[in-house]
Amino acid sequence: MQFTVRAPATSANLGPGFDCLGIAWNLYGRFVFHTREEADDVRALARYRHMAEVSRPADRNNMVLQAYWAYAEALNIALPDVGVFIDSDIPSTRGLGSSAACIVAGCTAARHLARMIDGGKSKGRLTDASVLRVATAVEGHPDNVAPALYGGLQLSQLEKGRVNAVPLHVAESLRFFVMIPDVVMSTKSSRGVLKDTVQRGDAVHNLSALGFLLEGLRTGKQRLIRLGLSDRLHEPQRRPLIPDIHRIEALVETSGATGMVLSGSGSTLLVFSHQQQDAEVERILSSGLPDKWQLKRVMPDFSGAMVMVGEGRQADLR
Ligand code: HSE
Repeated sequence: MQFTVRAPATSANLGPGFDCLGIAWNLYGRFVFHTREEADDVRALARYRHMAEVSRPADRNNMVLQAYWAYAEALNIALPDVGVFIDSDIPSTRGLGSSAACIVAGCTAARHLARMIDGGKSKGRLTDASVLRVATAVEGHPDNVAPALYGGLQLSQLEKGRVNAVPLHVAESLRFFVMIPDVVMSTKSSRGVLKDTVQRGDAVHNLSALGFLLEGLRTGKQRLIRLGLSDRLHEPQRRPLIPDIHRIEALVETSGATGMVLSGSGSTLLVFSHQQQDAEVERILSSGLPDKWQLKRVMPDFSGAMVMVGEGRQADLR
């Protein structure tokens, strides 16, 4: 048996929404899963040979497979051994949710096979919520996982072992760019620079900023988004780790964009813009970015992770 799971890139935090806000983008990882009997059929898989392949036991630590087996274990389901071909447009360790895409793809594949094996008997258990819960346990926080699974802008919370998530509106007039440097930044090391305690004034600042940001994203009002892009919980410690940061801040200011935040923990920077200034922002950013930075226009993805069977597309059952 063979099927593909597609999962989107994501930006977590969006400034003040540290560990609880994230959005999915139209940049994708594609994961072709095959079971053992398929692996023996060399011709059936030949067309995927250009893609990187992972399988047990050699790639036991691969995140896609870890998530696949974590889902099987958490739901106590016997699943077949699988191999995976991976082809991804999501740059790795740049703050664009490449690991969340792998983890959500692994759990989604496990859920898909579990549904097929048990013929719908456990459908009530094999829900999106189960994928969200297991994927969050593997990743450690839900802010990339929720949009990678559901798509769109998602507010999420990990509370007493439960994961809660709610989709939020993004105004159609908004435009977004990511600026990706040639610098890797692992979440582990960039969490290491954060302070263990937070001053009350900083917490209050972030609470109000998050409110402004969500209302700004809902209505498209740039004044609110500008107020909402200010963070005091993580960016002050992380911005100095990004090369050329002062030069790029000045460039974004000159371009007339609404503002800029770290995408997740960096090193990618996310620029907020509006349809009215969009062309000018793109022109100024693309001509002024230092060498080794890549500018990409991104649009919100509202599909989230989906299973694609055969030549066509099939949205995973929700
Ligand atoms: N919320 C996480 C962080 C996202 O900022 O560390 C990175 O994966």
